[in-house]
Amino acid sequence: MITLDRPLDMHVHVRQDEMLRRVVPHTAQQFVGAVCMPNTLPPVDNLERYEAYVEEVKAAAAPLSFDPYVPLFFRDDFTREELSAWAPKLFGIKLYPAGVTTNSDSGVGEIEKIEPILQIMQDLDLPLLVHGETHGYSPDREREFVAVYDRFATTFPKLRITMEHITTREAAEFLGKHENVFATITLHHMLWTMDDMLGGPFNPFLFCKPILKSPDDRAALQDLVKQGHDKLMFGSDSAPHTEVAKRTEGAAGCYSAPVLLPCLAQFFEDQGILDQLQAYVSDNARRIYRVDPPQRSVNLVEKEWTVPPRYGSIVPVNAGATLRWWVEGANEAELD
Ligand code: DOR
Ligand code: ZN
Repeated sequence: MITLDRPLDMHVHVRQDEMLRRVVPHTAQQFVGAVCMPNTLPPVDNLERYEAYVEEVKAAAAPLSFDPYVPLFFRDDFTREELSAWAPKLFGIKLYPAGVTTNSDSGVGEIEKIEPILQIMQDLDLPLLVHGETHGYSPDREREFVAVYDRFATTFPKLRITMEHITTREAAEFLGKHENVFATITLHHMLWTMDDMLGGPFNPFLFCKPILKSPDDRAALQDLVKQGHDKLMFGSDSAPHTEVAKRTEGAAGCYSAPVLLPCLAQFFEDQGILDQLQAYVSDNARRIYRVDPPQRSVNLVEKEWTVPPRYGSIVPVNAGATLRWWVEGANEAELD
C-alpha cells in the first residue's frame, strides 16, 4: 500500500453546474485540495464569482473535506483598490493570453501592458499562474513564451510565478534560472508525445493545449521529475469535455482525473522513485504556496483494474488500459 499525506492537484479544470458535479468527486477521492482553474463561462474574475465557485466545488466534493484553490482569471483592468481588498482571500491570479486555449477569449490581449498589475501583485504577494504560450506555430508556442517568463521574473523578483503545464526542454531548463519561478507538469505531458496523439489514427482524447511534444521534450520533463526538483509540483490539467465536443468540435483538453494517482504511482514505481511521490504531489506545493490543506491521507492499494471507456459523456485518457494501483474508497460502480 502507498499512503500519501494530503495529496494536491495543483492544476485542474472542473467547469460548472452538472459537469462540475460529475468530475469533482474524481479529484476529491484522490486529492485533498486542488487548484481549480477560473476559465469558466463567464470566467471567475471577481470576488463574488470566486466565492460562489469555491462553494460549488466544496459542495460537490462533500462529504470529503476538500480545499479548492482558485486563482482569479486575469483581467487587464484590475485596479489596486480591488486587488488590495480581495488579496487576503485570494490564492493567486491566472494569466491566459487571449485565445490560446479553451475559454480564454476574454484573456489578456496585450501582455506587454500588464506590468502595472504585476507590480500590484508583487506588492500584495499574490502568486501569478501562467498559461505560457504565444500565438505562434503550435509546437513552438511555449518555447517562444520563455522570454516572457524571463522578463517577468527579472522585473518582479519577489513575484512568485508558476509556469503551468510545462512541456518543453527549454521550459524545464529555465526552471532553475530564477528563484521566483516554479512549474507544474501534467500526467499526459510526462507520459506521452505528439505521436501518441497523431502518429497513428488520430486520438482526439490526447488533444490538449499546450500540444503534446517530442520524445526529447518528454525526456526533459521526466528527468526533472526523477531528479525530485523542489520547485516542481504535480498539476494534472485534467480538462473534461464531452465525447461529442472532443470528436466534432476539436475541444482541447485531456480528462485524466480518474486515473491520476494510479498512473503516477505506476510511473514512480517503474522508475524506482516511489519515495519521491509524496514531495511531488504535496510537499513542494504546500511549501511553495504556503497552503494548509485538510488533514486527510489517501491510500493506493495494489489491485488491477481496467479504465472504463467513459464516465457519463466523458472519455478519460487511458480508457481500456489495465492499471495496477487502485485508490482506496474510489467508486467501483463506475467500472461497470
Ligand atoms: O487542453 C487544455 N484544456 N488546455 C488548457 O489550457 C485549458 C483546458 C480546458 O479548459 O479545456
Ligand atoms: Zn489548464
